[in-house]
Amino acid sequence: MNNDVAALVPAAGSGERLGLGPKAFLGIGGVSLVSRVVNTLTGCVGRVLVGVPPGYLDKATAELGDAAEVYPGGDSRQSTIYSLLQKCAEPIILINDGNRPFASRALVLKVIDKARRHGAAIAFTPALIPFARRQDGFLVSPVPSRQAIVPQSPQAFHRDILERGYQNALENGIEDQTTWEIILRLGVKVFVVEGEETNIKITSPLDWEIANKVIAPLVQRQKK
Ligand code: CTP
Ligand code: MG
Repeated sequence: MNNDVAALVPAAGSGERLGLGPKAFLGIGGVSLVSRVVNTLTGCVGRVLVGVPPGYLDKATAELGDAAEVYPGGDSRQSTIYSLLQKCAEPIILINDGNRPFASRALVLKVIDKARRHGAAIAFTPALIPFARRQDGFLVSPVPSRQAIVPQSPQAFHRDILERGYQNALENGIEDQTTWEIILRLGVKVFVVEGEETNIKITSPLDWEIANKVIAPLVQRQKK
């Protein structure tokens, strides 16, 4: 067991693009997104800390019980993660977004293992479709598909690297960037771990439909 690992779950967003309220508390098959995430992480790490919208502390505490510690989040994903980071002292930190409820335990464990070795590791999916750069309204060049990847969470880091990244962001007024951008700014290499196609981030109404109708039943079947 990874007792020296704390998992941080940023789940304090308001879910504006989906339009159904804070996504952490929406249920798929009767289980909320944040419960699904916490359930996956429990058993992989020593401790789980969740950041929720300030008005949802009681609801989250009632729902998660002893499985996780619940704290008020900040006004961006970056500030939610930074404030959760201050609440723990474990040397390895895993991050899994509250709106990515389908990562497998095997993926979480692999990301932790690679982060131990390399300092920073992140799950990704390969680009299965062509990508291109655009400039001033014109397509200017292809992005070779071997080079293009879609970063996901789970992600894991040595604590000191994450601390330095967030400190550097604070000092330089860098706001609301992804964690891997914050780490790359330090000049630290981020190891990539092939993730899972089913590990989608639920952002839009279409994602919500896909999560309910396609991915939840698929993941359920895979578990059997
Ligand atoms: N998040 C957070 N604190 C914030 C904003 C976002 O912890 N102040 C979390 C979200 O809860 C989510 C993750 O960061 O788990 C990724 O954010 P996103 O997909 O943008 O979710 P929302 O911010 O909730 O959605 P929207 O941007 O559409 O409002
Ligand atoms: Mg957001």
